[in-house]
Parts: sequence; C-alpha cells; structure tokens
Amino acid sequence: MAEVVVVGGASEGGDLVARAIRDLIASRPDAVLGLATGSTPLPVYASLAVSLREDPLDVSRVRGFSLDEYVGLPEGHPESYRSVITRDVVELLGLAPDNVLVPNGDPGALQTAGEDYERAILAAGGVDLQILGIGRTGHLGFNEPGSSFASMTRVKTLTPETRRDNARFFDSPSDVPVHCITQGLGTILRARHLVLLACGEEKAEAVAAAVEGPLTAQRPGSIIALHPHVTVVVDEAAASRLDNLAYYRYAYANKPRWQGI
Ligand code: PGA
Repeated sequence: MAEVVVVGGASEGGDLVARAIRDLIASRPDAVLGLATGSTPLPVYASLAVSLREDPLDVSRVRGFSLDEYVGLPEGHPESYRSVITRDVVELLGLAPDNVLVPNGDPGALQTAGEDYERAILAAGGVDLQILGIGRTGHLGFNEPGSSFASMTRVKTLTPETRRDNARFFDSPSDVPVHCITQGLGTILRARHLVLLACGEEKAEAVAAAVEGPLTAQRPGSIIALHPHVTVVVDEAAASRLDNLAYYRYAYANKPRWQGI
C-alpha cells in the first residue's frame, strides 16, 4: 500500500519531501533524482533551495532525469521543460547542468530519443527518488489514460484536457504542443522510491483512483499499487475522496520516525 501523508498545505508538503531529498543526498552524494515539472513540485524545490542555502551540502554530483518534454518547441522556449528544469531546479539548487537530463523533444531526434533516454537512466544506475505530480486525467508524467503499464520513454499525444490545463503557461491554448515525449509507466516503476504530490480539490478524484484503485490503464496513477515504496503527499482537499483516509492518518501517526518517508 502506498503511504499517504496528509499535510496542512503545499509548503508543508514541500518541506517534508525536501527533507527526504536532502537526507538522500547526504547519504548518497551522487543520488539520482527523478524530476517533475508543473506547479505541484515547486514548493519542494523552493524548500530544498532554502535548506541548501542555510546549511550547505555538496550537490555537485547529484544527477537528475526529468519526466517529460513537449515535442517541437523551439530551443530556449521559456515553457519547454528543458527551460523550466534549468530555471526551477538546476539554477535554483546549484546543480551541475550537465548532470540533469530532459527527454529530447526535437522532432528530428524522436525516433531514437526514447531509447537514448532509457539508456542514460540505466547508465546512471536508475532513479533513487522520483518526484511525481498527477494530472486531472490521472496521468503520471505525460502518460495519459490508456498508457501501457510496461511503457518506456516514447512519444505520446496529449489529451485535450491536459492541453487545456497547461494552456495557462502559454500565450494561447493552441500554442500548447499536441505531442510530448515522456518516461513510460514502466520507466517510472523502476525508480526506487516514488513520491507523488497533489494539492487541491481538482486532484481529489485522480488521487483516490491512484491510491485506492482499481488498477487500470485508464487511471495511470493506479500503477503505484505495483511499486513497493510509494509516498503520496496530499493536502486535505486532494485527500478528500479517499475512503480509507482515517486509516492512512492512523498508520502515519504511528510510524516510527526513523523510517522517514
Ligand atoms: P500540476 O501538473 O502540478 O501543474 O498540477 C501535474 C501534472 O500534470 O502531472
């Protein structure tokens, strides 16, 4: 069962996950982080940045792999996930730029980009801690409903709903690319620890489907039931549709603190 941690708000969730990442880097200076874009993980990166400023830790060997990228945005486009990760993670945390990879969304490279990315993740020894958001469609990364549980990094077509959700980052909804390249659900399942964050009522249904199933490709988030170490960090609103919420609170309240998350 995924561990569900209900937090008072996004910044408390960010602090909790940032602490786990800090502990990981302290014990493994060349840790491999799985990075997510979108609004949800921002408090994690912000909290980790503050912690690293107040109490510096060598992050020069930390490596990172981002989940996904739009296809076809011009290089340097401010909303390409390469730009977002550079701005919100690499520069903010002071990571070595060459240590952080994002799938290649260049249309000319797509035939081999997925395999190249999988090879790079394997060569790094796999992802230690994968940060995940979840879409209202239930997508993890950009694995929209119907994605194979065994899928690896590949090109996908975004649903109209996801394009609408992400239109807030672009000048016009039609500017949101139709295609993306995303780590597959099979890729995500290989990471050693999955940390899924969600805030707000609009994520409550996707969170309930992810945590309490049923396991179905129509709800990509439900693959977390197949993974041995998952932490779901949610605020009250995102937790509001969970049937077994009282039990999750009870289990977490009684968890030995040395276990961390
Ligand atoms: P959000 O996106 O964090 O911006 O809500 C999450 C997602 O689409 O996976």
